[in-house]
Amino acid sequence: MDFNKELEERVKKANQAIEECLPKEKNIPGNLIESMRYSVLVGGKRVRPVLMGELFEIFGGTGKEIRFFQSAMEMIHTSSLCHDDLPALDNDMLRRGKKTTHAQFGEAMGILAGDALLNYAYELLFDGINEAQNKENAIRAARILSKKSGYLGMLGGQSVDVEREKTGIEGDQLEILEYINEKKTAALIEGAMMAGAALAGANDGQLEIIEKMGNRIGLAFQIQDDILDVTGTTESIGKPVFSDMKNNKETYINIVGIEEAAKKVIELTNEAVALADQLPRNTEFLKEMFSYLSLRKK
Ligand code: IPE
Ligand code: IPE
Ligand code: MG
Ligand code: MG
Ligand code: MG
Repeated sequence: MDFNKELEERVKKANQAIEECLPKEKNIPGNLIESMRYSVLVGGKRVRPVLMGELFEIFGGTGKEIRFFQSAMEMIHTSSLCHDDLPALDNDMLRRGKKTTHAQFGEAMGILAGDALLNYAYELLFDGINEAQNKENAIRAARILSKKSGYLGMLGGQSVDVEREKTGIEGDQLEILEYINEKKTAALIEGAMMAGAALAGANDGQLEIIEKMGNRIGLAFQIQDDILDVTGTTESIGKPVFSDMKNNKETYINIVGIEEAAKKVIELTNEAVALADQLPRNTEFLKEMFSYLSLRKK
């Protein structure tokens, strides 16, 4: 298998779905639609829609509803980025190699575009449910994605991340960091893979394995993100370097050091690969994808 070629094809398919689903209305006053489109189309690796599509296929899914779910996934993720970059959170001006949404359109639009993308994601999930032959599977997938984005998922993690940075949070700092990473980042990766599998009819036991697998690769993904924050370049990562230091964020880098952090990435990736081996299907691309995610330079 030529992994890079396979990945390119899957990203292209995901991008087609996303572009088709984005709002296109013209002659509407103001910049909301433009700022939504800008935030999504400016770039991005499309990791979550690709993972979702892969699990859908692994479990034998073939229907068109996956396209709505993949698009909703990317809208949720992009909304999290619009808000993550705001002055009240990480206060960053560069994302995906271009100005962040609030830097381009103003702070109010940074907030509103993020909200609008999140809300629109749910419209798309309903469209996906309507399109699906098996409504029960589709509702289950939508429920998973909603939960993984919410107060016990991505938003929960983002809130602890920002509170800890502003006022400090008492307790074991490594445990708190793990909670943050598990929620702010791993939750959406778990959700992407679980929703793709659920949509294709995966059972509870299989979803449990996928959740664990998403957790491991999601944690590895965030630690690698923190490593790139200090070892990458602005050009390669398309966002400002040393953002975490600027915001006094404690990451694995300053708690255990960069070498231990890199070891942890490999350890977690190996765990994710071993879990993929427990799935009763061909997971060759998925396992290669895990290595790509943890060794990435952007
Ligand atoms: C960035 O996610 C936010 C994190 C969870 C680290 P990605 O690295 O997937 O960002 P894009 O979508 O490729 O821009
Ligand atoms: C944010 O983590 C994860 C999100 C939910 C957006 P970071 O703050 O480290 O993400 P980047 O580095 O800005 O992409
Ligand atoms: Mg952040
Ligand atoms: Mg950030
Ligand atoms: Mg980061």
